[in-house]
Order: sequence, then C-alpha cells, then structure tokens
Amino acid sequence: MSDKHSTLDNLSHEDRSFAPSAAFAAQAVAHEDLYRRAAEDRLGYWADRAREVLTWDTDFTQTLDWSEAPVAKWFVGGKVNAAYNALDRHVEAGNGDRVAIHFEGEPGDTRSYTYAQLTDEVKRAANAFESLGVSTGDRVAVYLPMIPEAVITMLACARIGAIHSVVFGGFSADALRSRIDDAEAKLVVTADGTWRRGKPSPLKPAVDEAVANCAGSVDNVLVVKRNGEDVAWTDGLDLWWDDVVPAASPEHTAEGHDAEHPLFVLYTSGTTGKPKGIIHTTGGYLVQNAATHRDTFDLHPETDVFWCTADIGWVTGHSYVTYGPLVNGATQVIYEGTPDTPHQGRWWEIVEKYGVSILYTAPTAIRTMMKWGREIPDGYDLSSLRVLGSVGEPINPEAWMWYRDVIGTNAGKNGERKDEPTPIVDTWWQTETGAHMIAPLPGVTATKPGSAQVPVPGITVDVVDENGASVADGEGGYLVIRDPWPAMLRGIWGDMDRYRDTYWSRFEDMYFAGDGAKKDEDGDIWLLGRVDDVMNVSGHRLSTTEIESSLVANSLVAEAAVVGAKDETTGEAVYAFVILQREPEGGEDVVELLRAHVAKEIGAIAKPRGIFVVPELPKTRSGKIMRRLLKDVAEGREVGDSTTLADATVMAQIADSVRR
Ligand code: WT7
Repeated sequence: MSDKHSTLDNLSHEDRSFAPSAAFAAQAVAHEDLYRRAAEDRLGYWADRAREVLTWDTDFTQTLDWSEAPVAKWFVGGKVNAAYNALDRHVEAGNGDRVAIHFEGEPGDTRSYTYAQLTDEVKRAANAFESLGVSTGDRVAVYLPMIPEAVITMLACARIGAIHSVVFGGFSADALRSRIDDAEAKLVVTADGTWRRGKPSPLKPAVDEAVANCAGSVDNVLVVKRNGEDVAWTDGLDLWWDDVVPAASPEHTAEGHDAEHPLFVLYTSGTTGKPKGIIHTTGGYLVQNAATHRDTFDLHPETDVFWCTADIGWVTGHSYVTYGPLVNGATQVIYEGTPDTPHQGRWWEIVEKYGVSILYTAPTAIRTMMKWGREIPDGYDLSSLRVLGSVGEPINPEAWMWYRDVIGTNAGKNGERKDEPTPIVDTWWQTETGAHMIAPLPGVTATKPGSAQVPVPGITVDVVDENGASVADGEGGYLVIRDPWPAMLRGIWGDMDRYRDTYWSRFEDMYFAGDGAKKDEDGDIWLLGRVDDVMNVSGHRLSTTEIESSLVANSLVAEAAVVGAKDETTGEAVYAFVILQREPEGGEDVVELLRAHVAKEIGAIAKPRGIFVVPELPKTRSGKIMRRLLKDVAEGREVGDSTTLADATVMAQIADSVRR
C-alpha cells in the first residue's frame, strides 16, 4: 500500500482552477441563472423543474409537504408514470427512431434498441409480469447482468407500479436471500449467467439457492438466456423470459402513479450488520434525476452519446443508466463486461466505436487505467468526448488531472490533442440522496482538481462541527444537508425508526450524510471519506460490521475486527484481524478458508484483502475496539496514540503476529 492516496488529507490548498471555455459556455444547457432562481425561491424552482423535465398525468397541487418530517412528500397530488416518461413520450414526440441503448456484450455481441423498440419491449414485459400476478405495490427482485433486459425489467416494473429491488450480481446467494425476504419479493428476474473475462459466469445457481432457503414469498423466477449454459430447472417456479415476454402483447397503457408511489428499494450497507432497504418514490426522484442528468453532464439529447459505466446493481446504475438518460431521451451505451477483456483498451474502443460524448465513471477505474499506461487510450480516437464525470469516492487530484490531460484532450489516435480539454465533473451523492447533490456545472463552474465543489441548484449542503454549527471557510467537519430535496430517500424498508436514527438524530433538523468534508478558502467543498463504519472499496459501499458479523459466524472465529485501509487503486481495501476459536481441521489454510467464507456469505467484493490472525484485539477499558490503531497497522504506519487501551502490550503483540 502506498500513501499516495492520503494526499486527500492535505487537500483544500488547491491553487489550480480551470474556467470553462467560452465555446463550451456558449452552448451549455445550464446557466448561472439556475442558482439565482433556486436561491430566490427553492420550492418554486423545483416546481418549475418538475413541470419542465417530466410529463405529468395529473399536475401536483403542493410542491413539498414536510409536515411529517423527516418523511417528505414532494409534488403532492401529482400523478406520473416513470416508464411513460422514459419511453412512450419520446416516441409520441417523433423520436421513436432515436437509439435509446447501444448494448455491447463482453464477448463482442451487440444489440441496439430505438426508443420505439424499447417501448415495445417494456410494454410486453409489463404485460408478462402482470400475467404472472405481479401488480402495483408488489416487489420484484432483479438479479441480472448488465444487459438490456435489466433496464427493460426495471422499467416494466415502474410501468405497472411494482417496486423493483435490484441486487448486484456480485452478491452471494445468502445476500440475495436476505434481500428477497426483507422485501418479500414475489417475482425474481435473473439470467442463466453472464460473461466474465471471456468465460461464462453463472447467476442462476445463486438464485436457486436463495429461493430454496427464503421464507416463501417468491411465486416465479423469470430467466433470461444470456450465456447459454445449462441450468437446473424447477417446473412451476422457473420460466424462460423467451417463453413469456415475446409472446405478450405489445399494447399496454401506462397509468399515472401517485408522485409518492414507491419506485424502488435498493439495499445498501450501513453501520450495523443488516443492509438497509433504501426507499425511493416516483415523482421527486425522477425530477431531480432528470434535471441533474441534463445539467451536470450538459446533455444535448439529440446529439450526445452518454455512457455511465456503473452496474445497475448500484444507485448510479439506477439513476444514470435506467432513469436519467431515458427520461431525458438520450442515446446511451451499456457494456456487460470488465474493462480489460479481451484487452486493456476495451473501454476506449467502445468510446471510439459509438462516438461516446459523455463518460461517467469511478476514480478507481481511472486509477487502474493510469496504472495500465496512457499509451492504451492514446491509441484510440477519443475526440467525441466532451464531458467527463466521476462518482463513488473522492477523486485524488492526480487522477483528476490524468483524466483531463490524457482522456480529456485526446483528439485522435495519432497524437492529435484538443486545444481545450473537456470539463471534468466530480459528483457527490449517495444511494440515499438518489441524485447528484454536489457537483460543478460544466460551462458555469471553474473546476478544481479533486473537489466536488458546490451544491447543485436547489440543494442546501453544509459542513458543520460537532454541535451542528457551520464551519468557517478553510475548516473541516461533517457533511449535512439542511433542507429536504426531491430525490431524498423516504425511509428504510420495514424500519422507519432506523431511518430517523441513522440520518436525523446526529444533528437537529439536518440530514447527516456520514461523510467528512472541508470547505476551502472559497467555500468550495472537498469530500474526505466516511466518518462512520462504512468502507468504500472501488466505489462500492461495504460495512465493517457486516463483514465482522460474517467472520464471527464462522465457528473458527472467536472475535473479529475489520478496517478499511487506504489503497492506491481501490480507494480502500478490506483488512480483518481475527482471534481464532480453534484451528481448522486437516491443516487447511485458515486465512483462505475465512476469505472464501466472507465471499460466500456476502459476495466476492467483500472478501478481505488480508486477514491477520492475532492473539488479542486492541480494546478500551469499556471494551470498545480501537479500529483506528488497526488501520495504522494495515496501512503500515507507526501506531498512533494507544494510551486509552486496557492492555498496553496488545499492539506490540499484534504487530508481532502481523510481521509473522
Ligand atoms: C458514499 C455513498 C453516489 C453513487 C455511488 C456511491 C462516497 C460518492 C463521491 C464523490 C467523494 C463520494 C461518499 C458517500 N462518494 N461519491 N464524488 N466524492 N465521495 O453511492 O454506495 O451510496 O455510497 O460514497 O462517502 O457517502 P453509495
């Protein structure tokens, strides 16, 4: 591990600032004026945006009802259909022939859907789901790879008012089972499998195991044929997508749902062992989504080709693959595979092939590409790119500058460079916020490498001290959101107390995001990472407690402590310190056994990079584990102040075991 990444801690002294070019500003869809309008009349601003970006079946009568705070109601009385807004209305407006999705499979197979074709598919899927007994308010679990059927399934649910609960395909059968049970899903949509690094990779076996062990809410499993591998089959439960969806009628009238009708539940890690089912509703979510997708990326739907590399298993894939781009009538690329299959230039090949003009990805990917070397992107024509976005974790200035200099100035495969690099937009938000909250506006904001900078128009963000008082410019503290916002979560599925507790109890009348932040001398915001027990590995959110619970559930383990240690590429990496209950029988490698155990219980993404068997854990006199000290060990640093330890010799014992 290098501590290069820790330059983040020394931020807020960034002198570089890049003003938008006159040419970019002249054609930009967003103007300074948005901030002024929002500042003068925040609710009026959102009411205007709501009517601008969506087509409502019934107009709303009240913009915000905050009388039951912290549960918001936005656009009260309004009725709207998400699928109609993402599909039919573009066809009705004469844009049915515009490509909605260019799909690129990992093996190189491709499919494109126009808006007319995608509308047709979603109508068939909506009819098919209804014929399987799914109706408004029912939950549908989605466990699919990045293929068009994932988007079709989500929109078909939205069309009929069913609530989708997408589970990332990298999660284990156990994780899928607990999410199916928590949401009591009636239907599961999955695939035989996908492709990973040139090989078929199964999905259905995990669904089989999950459904066999779940509480019994599931009536059917609908299976997309993707990699053609043999799968186990249960008659009466399993159905092939190809037998059900193409045969369904392509006629389906979308009805408006209440603005506060739940659109989806998406599980995310918190500070306890149990993932939280974050609830988003229809109207407010879509309004902020479509507005930010347009403004942050300077979207010109007639000409742009948008590509967000996130998987639909995460909120980025919900907001900026399924909803934002389609509600805005854009053309987008969806790619199934990994960036280095069959070679490390695959992404740039895709950008060149489809003429991608807006690329949205994560710092971990940018740092990986940096490591592979600039010769790779330099060998492709990336001249079509005009906006580059970043999301998921703090972007270090080195990666930001590389993104700008190497990707953002590429004007051809023979070394041609652009005079004006493309703007970079770093976007801070969360599963809970539903859409961008802090981000520069290209064409308006002078950008600084490494900072997300300013709240988007209509959003009130602040950095506060322990007591909830705003910090002065130049100071650090906790990131909070002062006023309700349209795309805010409406609660945690089945646990509204946890909702109030987690987000609204730390500071009075403010939403606590869980992130540390600093304001620089100009008042711009720099995100400094989580201040709670949540880790961020390659932009994926993991809970230290969840991994600890999984480890102690193994009979070999007596106690466990998990920390996220800084990592140059992935942002953080998971390290576990365990006290063994007993040695494994038959001389097996305990570290490998436990890593495999976590992968099985949670998913491969949660597998600790390192597991250290130690005789003791550092605890305070009251028995609290001092993870900070373990983090020092994992990061190879001198151990910090350990005077509050109950047993002062523990850290020396741990250091000794780790060395061995
Ligand atoms: C956490 C939310 C937002 C979609 C992907 C992650 C971190 C996210 C940034 C950014 C610094 C960021 C925060 C946040 N994060 N974007 N641009 N700069 N940190 O969604 O899984 O809900 O995770 O990701 O720590 O709290 P998520």
